[in-house]
Amino acid sequence: MLGHVVFASHPLDPKQVDPSFEAEWSAAREAGMTACLLDSAALDAGAFDRATRRVPSLDAPVDAVFRGWMMRPEEYGAMRGALAARGVRLVNDEAQYRRTHHLPEWYAKLRAHTPATVWTTTGARFELDEVLAMLEPFGDSPLILKDYVKSQKHRWDEACFIRSARDADAVRRVTTRFIELQGAQLVGGLVFREFVSLEPLAVHSKSKMPLTREFRVFVRDGRPWLSAPYWEEGDYRDEAIASELFASECATIDSNFFTMDVARRTDGRWIIMELGDAQVAGLPEALAPERFYRALASG
Ligand SMILES: Nc1ncnc2c1ncn2[C@@H]1O[C@H](COP(=O)(O)OP(=O)(O)O)[C@@H](O)[C@H]1O
Ligand SMILES: [Mg+2]
Repeated sequence: MLGHVVFASHPLDPKQVDPSFEAEWSAAREAGMTACLLDSAALDAGAFDRATRRVPSLDAPVDAVFRGWMMRPEEYGAMRGALAARGVRLVNDEAQYRRTHHLPEWYAKLRAHTPATVWTTTGARFELDEVLAMLEPFGDSPLILKDYVKSQKHRWDEACFIRSARDADAVRRVTTRFIELQGAQLVGGLVFREFVSLEPLAVHSKSKMPLTREFRVFVRDGRPWLSAPYWEEGDYRDEAIASELFASECATIDSNFFTMDVARRTDGRWIIMELGDAQVAGLPEALAPERFYRALASG
């Protein structure tokens, strides 16, 4: 049973929870779970033993989830090792974390249900001719660009959306800007995905990106577990998704706790947008921390 939560601390005060996780901290305690803090500044510095200084050493090991910010799989593995030395066992090992955190790790298993995708494996290296050759199968379809983990979706026109896979100028402009904005945060390589037409919901009030009917599904022990509308804006008309949506696909992913973001195409078909490790995934506004931690605590 999962009885314990490891939260990231306030970046400037290792004795306080990160302000973004305050509501979750209270909800976890109210649900009867125990919780401890990892020193965020030490985590960022890669000092994993120092980061666990305030984690009490336990005689009997406990199974735990981490709640904090995304990190690279190697960092996650080092953090997990430091916690394990104190008897705190995180639900996913490093390979399981990578499995959902990096798109190329899950793509083959889900390709029938997710937009067609190609990627480079050489980080921020960008050779226009090579990329155009790689994009040939997409014809003149529009694309979206991201790295193995994240996009610049809030810079939609500038650094995410490419109007045609054949438009060399657009490919160069958007990719160059994307690389510039990702900077040292760019993970893995350049990922190009066929843009599919999704059911519209609204236009984001700040970034103007088109919002579509998307849901975040938390998947636990291979089964869809909790789900909620993804965006804070837009009228979902109290719609919910079928609890068995992509259940058999979820069971093929080797991770004990992950998220699956799903969207509906304009032709009515549901697709999988992306996966992520649930420990570093934000709770959608519509998923109250109380509900999340009560469900987590009850097994
Ligand atoms: N292939 C696609 N077709 C249509 N819309 C897409 C596609 N890929 C992403 N989007 C839109 O862009 C958003 C961000 O893409 P996503 O892959 O989730 O990036 P991030 O990891 O930055 O959240 C999605 O939530 C969706 O609204
Ligand atoms: Mg996303």
